[in-house]
Amino acid sequence: MNVKTMMVIGAGQMGAGIAQVFAQAGFQVKLNDLSEDALQKGKSGIEKRLSRAVEKERISEGEKAATLERLQTTTKLEDSYDCDLVIEAVVENMDVKTNVFQTLDKHAPSHAILASNTSSLPITEIAAVTERPSQVIGMHFMNPVPVMKLVEIIRALQTSDETYEAIETITKQLSKTPVEVNDFPGFVSNRVLMPMINEAIYTVYEGVATPEAVDEVMKLGMNHPMGPLTLADFIGLDTCLYIMEVLHEGFGDSKYRPCPLLRQYVKAGWLGKKSGRGFYQYS
Ligand code: CAA
Ligand code: NAD
Repeated sequence: MNVKTMMVIGAGQMGAGIAQVFAQAGFQVKLNDLSEDALQKGKSGIEKRLSRAVEKERISEGEKAATLERLQTTTKLEDSYDCDLVIEAVVENMDVKTNVFQTLDKHAPSHAILASNTSSLPITEIAAVTERPSQVIGMHFMNPVPVMKLVEIIRALQTSDETYEAIETITKQLSKTPVEVNDFPGFVSNRVLMPMINEAIYTVYEGVATPEAVDEVMKLGMNHPMGPLTLADFIGLDTCLYIMEVLHEGFGDSKYRPCPLLRQYVKAGWLGKKSGRGFYQYS
C-alpha cells in the first residue's frame, strides 16, 4: 500500500508529535482537533521543535519550511476523504474513540487504514465499530514522539496481515522500530510501565518518601532517564489514571487498582506538566 496523505486526529502532545514525524518523513499531513485554538497550539509546538532542530544543524531552514508546507490543519473529520492512513490520538476514552472511528469510517476512503495511538484500550473493540475491521490496528508511539524510537504495533483479532505489513513498513519509513504485540489491556508497554508508576504514587501516598526522593532513587539507582513521578507528570496524570483503570477492569486483578492519590490529583485538575501542576509545579 502506498501512503501519500495521512491524517492525525488530536493535536495534543502525542498527535502533534506524530504529525511532525510524518511531515518530516515526506508525507502530506492533515492535523485535526476540535478547535482552532488546539490546532494552533499543536502547530506552534511543531514549529518550535523544528526551529530548534535548525539551530542544532540537524535540519536546514529549507527542510523546516518544506515540512511545514506538508502540514495542514482542519477541524473537520470529513477532510479525511483523500487520506490513505488516519491515526487517532484523542483522549484515552473508549466512547470518544469509538465515536471518532465511526465518523472516520464514513468519510475516509474504503482502502484507508484507521490506526489508534491508544495507550491501553482494546483495538479489537475499536475495530468492531467500523465496517472495515481488518484495516484497523494499534500504532502506539512513545512520548516524546520525535525522540523515542519505538512504535508498538497492536494487532486486533480482526487485523489483516496486509494492514500489519503496511504499518510495519511505514514505521520503518519514519526511522522508528516496530514491535508486534497482541491485543491485551495495556499491551506490553503500559502493562509493565504503568504499575511501576502507580506503585511510585503509592509510596508517596503512604508517606514512604517525597516525590523528589522516589524519583532520585529510580534515576540514580536504576538509571532511568526520568523518575516515575516526573514521567507520570510528563505523560499526563489523567492518561495514567485511564490506563490503570483499563488494566484494573481488563484483568479484574486488585494489583492494578489505581492509587487514591492519583484519582485525587486528577479530580483537582492537577494533570501534570500540561496543566502546570502535578507531583511538581511547572508554572
Ligand atoms: N518533544 C520533543 N523533543 C523533546 C521533548 C519533547 N517533549 N523533550 C525533549 N526533547 C528532545 C530535546 O529537544 C533534545 O533533543 P536535541 O538533542 O535535538 O536538543 C532531546 O530530546 C534530549 O532532551 P534533553 O537533553 O533536554 O533532556 P534529556 O536528555 O533528559 O531527554 C527525554 C529528555 C528524551 C524526554 C528523556 O528524559 C527520556 O527519555 N525520558 C523518558 C521518556 C519515556 O519514558 N517515554 C515513554 C513514556 S510512556 C509512553 O509514551 C507510552 C504511553 O502510552 C503512556
Ligand atoms: P492530550 O490531552 O495532550 O491531547 C488530546 C487532544 O485530543 C486534545 O488536543 C483534544 O482537544 C483532542 N480531542 C479530544 N477529543 C477529540 C475529538 N473528538 N476529535 C478531535 N480531537 C479531539 O493527550 P495525549 O497525551 O496527546 O494523548 C492522546 C492519546 O495518546 C491517548 O489515547 C493517550 O493514551 C495516548 N498516548 C499518550 C502518551 C503520553 O505519554 N501522553 C503516550 C502514548 C500514547
